[in-house]
Amino acid sequence: MNKNSLFGLIDKLAETHSLSEEEYSALIESRTPEAAGYAAGRAVAVRKSIYGNAVFVRGLIEISNICKNDCLYCGIRRSNSQAQRYRLTPDNILSCCDEGYRLGFRTFVLQGGEDGFFTDEVLERLISDIKKAHPDCAVTLSLGERSRESYKRLKDAGADRYLLRHETADGTHYARLHPKEMSFDNRINCLFTLKELGYQVGCGFMVGSPYQSPETLAKDLKFIETFKPDMCGIGPFVPHHATPFKDFASGTVELTCFLLSLIRLIYPPVLLPSTTALGTIDPLGREKGIQSGANVVMPNLSPVAVRKNYELYDNKICTDEESAQCRGCLERRMKSIGYEIVTDRGDVRK
Ligand code: SAM
Ligand code: FES
Repeated sequence: MNKNSLFGLIDKLAETHSLSEEEYSALIESRTPEAAGYAAGRAVAVRKSIYGNAVFVRGLIEISNICKNDCLYCGIRRSNSQAQRYRLTPDNILSCCDEGYRLGFRTFVLQGGEDGFFTDEVLERLISDIKKAHPDCAVTLSLGERSRESYKRLKDAGADRYLLRHETADGTHYARLHPKEMSFDNRINCLFTLKELGYQVGCGFMVGSPYQSPETLAKDLKFIETFKPDMCGIGPFVPHHATPFKDFASGTVELTCFLLSLIRLIYPPVLLPSTTALGTIDPLGREKGIQSGANVVMPNLSPVAVRKNYELYDNKICTDEESAQCRGCLERRMKSIGYEIVTDRGDVRK
């Protein structure tokens, strides 16, 4: 594709917020550094028009690395017998929220494996305790696939948001990343159920996951275009040494940043994190993500004693720092590129 048609497609996306799957995959296949720079410029302009130079922070609390699932890419999958398993108690989790609140966080993300300990009853109590202690904060859950009834109970208990990456919008690709017992249709249905129940919903995928192609990515972008998630988590796939995908290459900063720009242009109000995985494959990865159109960072609030054990992929950063250090470090990083971390729930501005 020549330069004019490439830039023309980016302009069309910025103006109409829609392309065909063929156009998305052509854009991905034919991208150049110059086109990526152009897309990033347009993405940053549109995010500034909605969010100014604010970067929202979410305090991530990794509540358990015990999981009944066996996703082939994931370092805490159930068949990884080398993983040192842990689970935080509800009291531990509340203390993390208290510390986060003191540090200026107004959103807590409770993320973990699908751990049977966290029944609806346990989570209902925990969510309402967090909301009682910090009524001005948003509670986000990222605890995988649950029943409609369960999602409803957690919503009624006070949960505001739910993150569930769709992982890939191509069913055949999904089946190559997951064991037979996991269902693509169920994952997608969960996302629609969460939306219907009134959650602010986040989907997302890994960039450069094994067997991904411009065509599967085009389906991801089309899914985002039609689903219009409030949040969208994308970050590079990074191999973990004790998984079946240990010998696959990591995703790249370059493609992740290009996709961040396209997603911003597809749905301008989306809350788009510049992820820890991006910071893991490049020391300036998170800054580059923000400069491509992202507007959220998610520093870790988990107790330092367990952080190394929530090892989704190799060489994960920020596992030795205290929460206050993580926050300070990100504040400095954002300032260095002209952005400012704000003390705010960071709701979507639709
Ligand atoms: N159990 C919940 C779920 O399945 O949604 C939340 C925890 S899960 C570990 C969170 C996300 O980590 C996944 O959606 C996946 O995209 C990401 N992840 C897992 N392994 C990864 C890897 N090797 N590289 C990059 N991201 C990974
Ligand atoms: Fe369950 Fe990764 S396999 S969190």
